[in-house]
Amino acid sequence: MNTVEKIGVLTSGGDSPGMNACIRAVVRTGIYHGLEVFGIRNGYDGLINNDIIKLESSSVSNIIQRGGTILKTARSEEFITKEGRQKAYNNLKKYGLDAMVVIGGNGTFTGANIFINEFDFPIMGAPGTIDNDLYGTDNTIGYDTAVNTVVDAVDKIRDTADSHNRLFFIEVMGRDAGFIALRSGIAGGAEDILIPETVTYIDELVEILEKGFRKNKKSGVIIVAEGDDAGGAFDVARKVKEKCSGYDTRVTILGHIQRGGSPTSFDRILASTMGYGAVKALLEGRRGEMVGVIHRELAYTPFEKAIKHHKEIKRELLEMARILSS
Ligand code: F6P
Repeated sequence: MNTVEKIGVLTSGGDSPGMNACIRAVVRTGIYHGLEVFGIRNGYDGLINNDIIKLESSSVSNIIQRGGTILKTARSEEFITKEGRQKAYNNLKKYGLDAMVVIGGNGTFTGANIFINEFDFPIMGAPGTIDNDLYGTDNTIGYDTAVNTVVDAVDKIRDTADSHNRLFFIEVMGRDAGFIALRSGIAGGAEDILIPETVTYIDELVEILEKGFRKNKKSGVIIVAEGDDAGGAFDVARKVKEKCSGYDTRVTILGHIQRGGSPTSFDRILASTMGYGAVKALLEGRRGEMVGVIHRELAYTPFEKAIKHHKEIKRELLEMARILSS
């Protein structure tokens, strides 16, 4: 087993609230164990372009509460190429780095996995994405904060929806996954939640709405996951209007507001635990794995599995949401 003395840390892919808390944990756990820690800026692009800085304990002061990532992030096109990865490896060697922690989502771990297979370089990953779409952890860093941001917006939209007797279609992020939609829809008491994991039938949605309006509901909120098979919120609103022109409808796309903001205490603790767990794992000789937290315990899942296995949505929650909002 190679000894680990100098490690790098980077954030890659879409940023998520809590990434800074994770960077802080990596830096401080590393330094506590006598390691030198380097920050790689702009994700894998920083490795390729030599954008690497030494981090001290003080470099990560006062960041646990901040959204975004002090190391910046990118979705690197060059790292997808063999030449790009070779440059990245050469720079790692130039700095004498002997292991790395990468914080990001699916694309980040796919890149890390290819890199490990090519260069046999020790990497551990921490799941940082608001989408919560990674197998091997109950929650990803930033998911809880994003859900709370959505719920806050839904509450506000309800005020105006109620005042005007309007039906709102609110589109939330999540790429191909419906985790943000499902959890925020339940917490926001949505009339219905449309997610990519289930087929959306517009007739069924219209029926739910009509039933509600017959029972004297005057306003409503439908949460639409951006990856839903019926389309985005504008498409769904149009399709509902075609069947039932009586509603005064509005559409809100929440967009990148969901990616920013101060992380919740849940995300700060999760990110800290994962950063700590990733460094400890490297010191124990683990590599090629994503650190997760399952049932409040640290868990390690090979990148391959974290990327390829599908994290199941709890379908019963959809049914529950419908019952509770009827
Ligand atoms: O993966 C995080 C995410 O915010 C997705 O929910 C969304 O589809 C995507 O990134 C947006 O990417 P970009 O910031 O490049 O527009």
